[in-house]
Amino acid sequence: MEEKPEKLISDEGIRVDGRRPDELRPVKMEVGVLDKSDGSAYVEFGGTKVIAAVFGPREAHPRHLALPDRAILNCRYHMTSFSVEERKPLGMTRREVELSKVIREALETVVFLEEFPRASIDVYIEVIQADGGTRTTGLTAASLALADAGIPMADLIAAVAVGKVEGQLVLDLCDVEDKYGEADMPVAIAPRFNSIVLLQLNGRLTPEEFKKGMELAQKGIAEIYRMQRETLKKKFSSARMEA
Ligand code: CDP
Repeated sequence: MEEKPEKLISDEGIRVDGRRPDELRPVKMEVGVLDKSDGSAYVEFGGTKVIAAVFGPREAHPRHLALPDRAILNCRYHMTSFSVEERKPLGMTRREVELSKVIREALETVVFLEEFPRASIDVYIEVIQADGGTRTTGLTAASLALADAGIPMADLIAAVAVGKVEGQLVLDLCDVEDKYGEADMPVAIAPRFNSIVLLQLNGRLTPEEFKKGMELAQKGIAEIYRMQRETLKKKFSSARMEA
């Protein structure tokens, strides 16, 4: 485990990785990175690297799980064994089962499931490298992969964590800040409706800090949403040019 640095924020207000409190890590996004799935995306926030793949809508399997009036959305969030320094169990841990559930519930708020009765839409999120914020990066990637698969959605989902580090509110925590900071709050939003689709809080914030933290998250999310739309536009406009 990485050791605690002497200071998480310098006297000049600079964080361990050189960022200002309201800065995102360098972000990379790409869609259509895999051939076998119907949609896919790769998203990187600094050292956190995630790939998402989507299959469907396809016949639900096993068939008795199919619903007569809508599709089922299956979601698996998983960390590869080489994504963290410690020895990670091979199977699904309790944490991964919980994260699969909260990510699924967030995605269900935007996907038009009722358009595909008896079908399933399967979302796989693989964390290739973890450095804080894997659930938010996973959600951001999953919504891009769903869009890449052409699945009708009310909106994309953009997500980021905010937190408190040495008394200071910061955007997009890295692993060290997550581990040694006072609070960590992942937020996911469907920006078109400004509706919050995931909100968790680990640690404590005052009501005032919570309000400021949400504003900081919204600012980051606006930037992430812009990048998501750019990424999709780039793929689909180049596909049109090839046609
Ligand atoms: O990744 P996220 O912030 O959504 O979830 P977390 O449970 O708050 O985990 C924070 C960070 O701890 C992860 O991003 C990893 O960098 C690290 N972690 C780890 O090293 N080993 C694990 N088994 C789980 C998490």
